[in-house]
Amino acid sequence: ATTLAGAANISGRYFGVAVAAGRLSDSTYTGIIGREFDSVTAENEMKLDATEPNQNQFTFTNADRIVNLALQQGKKVRGHTLAWHSQQPGWMARMEGSALRQAMLNHVTRVATYYRGKIHSWDVVNEAFADGSSGARRDSNLQRTGNDWIEAAFRAARAADPGAKLCYNDYNTDNWSHAKTQAVYRMVQDFKARGVPIDCVGFQAHFNSGNPVPSNYHTTLQNFANLGVDVQITELDIEGSGTSQAEQYRGVTQACLAVSRCTGITVWGVRDTDSWRSYGTPLLFDGSGNKKAAYHAVLETLNAA
Ligand code: G3I
Repeated sequence: ATTLAGAANISGRYFGVAVAAGRLSDSTYTGIIGREFDSVTAENEMKLDATEPNQNQFTFTNADRIVNLALQQGKKVRGHTLAWHSQQPGWMARMEGSALRQAMLNHVTRVATYYRGKIHSWDVVNEAFADGSSGARRDSNLQRTGNDWIEAAFRAARAADPGAKLCYNDYNTDNWSHAKTQAVYRMVQDFKARGVPIDCVGFQAHFNSGNPVPSNYHTTLQNFANLGVDVQITELDIEGSGTSQAEQYRGVTQACLAVSRCTGITVWGVRDTDSWRSYGTPLLFDGSGNKKAAYHAVLETLNAA
C-alpha cells in the first residue's frame, strides 16, 4: 500500500493522527490527513476546558469540526479525553470533594452521550499516575475525591456509550521495568478481576533522549494485552532526525505489529511544525509536508506485516 492507513489496514489496524481545529483551513495539512490516515484524535478540542468552559454549558463546535470531517471521510475518531487533572476549566480546577466527583461524572456522561456512536475508543482517564519510582497515583483534585474516581469514570462512560472502547491513557508507561508501568498494569489487572469496564490501554509514546524507545517495548505491550485489553499507541512522536529517528519509528511500529491486540497507532501531529513540542522535528512529515525517512520506515514496516 502507498499510504500509512492503507498499509496498516493490511493487518487490520488503523493509523491515526492528532488534528487541531485551528489548522483545518491549511490545505496541505488537510490534504495529508485525508490521504494518509484513517483515524483522528482532536489534539485539544474534546478536553474538559474546551467542552465545558462553564459548568453545565457544553460547547462542541470545534470538536465537531474535527469529528464531522473525519466521519465524512470514513475515518474513525479517538475521543481524548473525558477525565484529566490538566486542562480543566477554571470552575472545575477550583472544585474539590463530592461536588467535584459529581461534576466529573456529569462531564463524562454528557460528553460521552453527545458523541455516542461516533467514537471508536475513548481515553476515559488520562495520566492518573505519578512519575518516578513511587508507583503511586498522581496527586490531583480528582484523586483527592477518592481512589475509586477512575473506576467511577469508566462506569459512567460505559453507561453513556456502550459501543465505544474505553481506554486508560498515560505516558512514560513504555518501559516494562518502570514503577509507573507496573502500577498501571496492576490497576488494569484489578479492573479486569472486578469487572470494571475497561477495554484498552493507550500508550502515549512521546519519546526523546531522556525517555527513549525501550528495548522491552514489545514485552510491555504484550503483557498488557495478556490481561485481556487492547493496546493502542496513542500520541506517538520521537525526537531526532534522519536514520536514527527512522529506526526508532520502525521499532515502535514493529512492536505494535508483533502484538495481535495492538490495534492501531496514532501520531501526535502531521508535520514537524504542527507538533506541540516547541523545538525539534519529531513527526513523519517535514514543515513543507514532505515525507521524511521516518515516514518511509513506518510505511515499509507496515507493508511487510
Ligand atoms: O488556544 C489557546 C489560545 O487561545 C491562547 O491564546 C494560547 C495562549 O497560551 O493558548 C492556546 O491554547 C494552547 C493549546 O495547546 C492550543 O494550542 C494551550 O496554551 C496549550 O497549553 C495547549 O497545549 C496542548 C497540551 O496538550 C496541553 O496540555 C498541546 O497542544 C497538546 O498537544 C498537548 O497534548 C497532550 C495530550 O493531550 C496528553 N498527553 C501529552 C500531550 C502533549 O503534551
